[in-house]
Amino acid sequence: MPNLLYAQSGGVTATINATASAVIASVRRHPDRIGRVYAARNGIIGVLRERLIDTRHESDEAIAALAHTPGGAFGSCRFKLKSLEQDRAHYQRLIDVLRAHDIRYFLYNGGNDSADTSLKISQIAAQLGHELHCIGVPKTIDNDLAETDVCPGFGSVAKYVAVSTREASLDVLSMAESSTRVFVLEVMGRHAGWIAAAAGLAGRKDGDPPHIILFPEVVFDEARFLAAVKDAVERHGYCTIIASEGVRGPDGKFLAEAGTRDAFGHVQLGGVGPLIADKVRAAHGYKYHWAVADYLQRSARHIASRTDLTISRKVGAAAVELALAGQNAVMPVVRRLSDRPYRYAIEPAPLSAIANRERKLPANYIRADGFGITAAARRYLEPLIAGEAYPPYVDGLPDYVRLKNRAVKPRLPAYEV
Ligand code: F6P
Repeated sequence: MPNLLYAQSGGVTATINATASAVIASVRRHPDRIGRVYAARNGIIGVLRERLIDTRHESDEAIAALAHTPGGAFGSCRFKLKSLEQDRAHYQRLIDVLRAHDIRYFLYNGGNDSADTSLKISQIAAQLGHELHCIGVPKTIDNDLAETDVCPGFGSVAKYVAVSTREASLDVLSMAESSTRVFVLEVMGRHAGWIAAAAGLAGRKDGDPPHIILFPEVVFDEARFLAAVKDAVERHGYCTIIASEGVRGPDGKFLAEAGTRDAFGHVQLGGVGPLIADKVRAAHGYKYHWAVADYLQRSARHIASRTDLTISRKVGAAAVELALAGQNAVMPVVRRLSDRPYRYAIEPAPLSAIANRERKLPANYIRADGFGITAAARRYLEPLIAGEAYPPYVDGLPDYVRLKNRAVKPRLPAYEV
């Protein structure tokens, strides 16, 4: 019986394991169609190295508990496969590994880079005559995949950021009279301001925090920004600022590049929060605090969005169904049918329409002054953070699962990457 391989890729999310859980549980419901579910250790790197995990050793309870466990249970990776011509040896090796373990279904759970990898693997498999159903499975907190209403993982990061913005703002408000006037929260989202926009949900009426959101889509104008901070402090006594890590200056450069790049050539970002805070202090002398949400926002499963969790599970189950239905080079995506109540359908979209594309925040989601969100953005975002899905707690802490991750015996000579 053919086997299925599942792999995780790119930055992980609070709910990527919920997708994994749904994939494995769905396959277990089809013992007559699929033999084993293998998981790759650290994404495509694990496939190249033939480091596969046999999920048969995990109990149904452990697989169910994966759905409330953050991180990437099998390890993720950032590894760029170049074109089929440039990286021929790697592609040949991938197919060799799939053949050696009779893998006919490959589910790659990632963002737009991973969609590109999945597409290329489906092409090389066809060229080399290995029957393979290659399905991309969406996830990314950045929410920047084309074709889908939302990316699994985004709703939870959005909820964490909106909740934190509301809570921290109450703290600053209490201190503002004689201490801190400005609070800066730096959030992720390299090229797109979806996460920054989500912070806007924290406020309901004029004057509510956040008072300023800095989006990657809006060129940073220092003078206008500093004037807006002063205005907020004078009118409300304090100012909450959300800064996307991807904010760029008029020269098109990121305000805060850490100076390193990952395998895809993406610049490592981080540090725009303290940089902005310091500019405020230099100009106005206000006392400030700043926070970089960083991995806290990506792993905050304790405050995950129930809507996001449900979607994350549904795309996992749908990916298995698509594979069994004989589909190839597609990704299950979310099509919004209505805002309130939030209704959607999960449908296949071609990987070619998703690979390497980036969906930015539309202009009509950004307020005219460039520092906030519009009613249209709120209508889009609100349903995505709806509902809670608390993990079980033991001794005051979330009870997360660690899988056995038992290795499959390699059948091929070693291959280093
Ligand atoms: O996957 C997207 C993302 O979470 C971005 O928002 C962030 O810039 C990046 O990953 C960080 O990547 P890494 O964990 O590899 O440093």
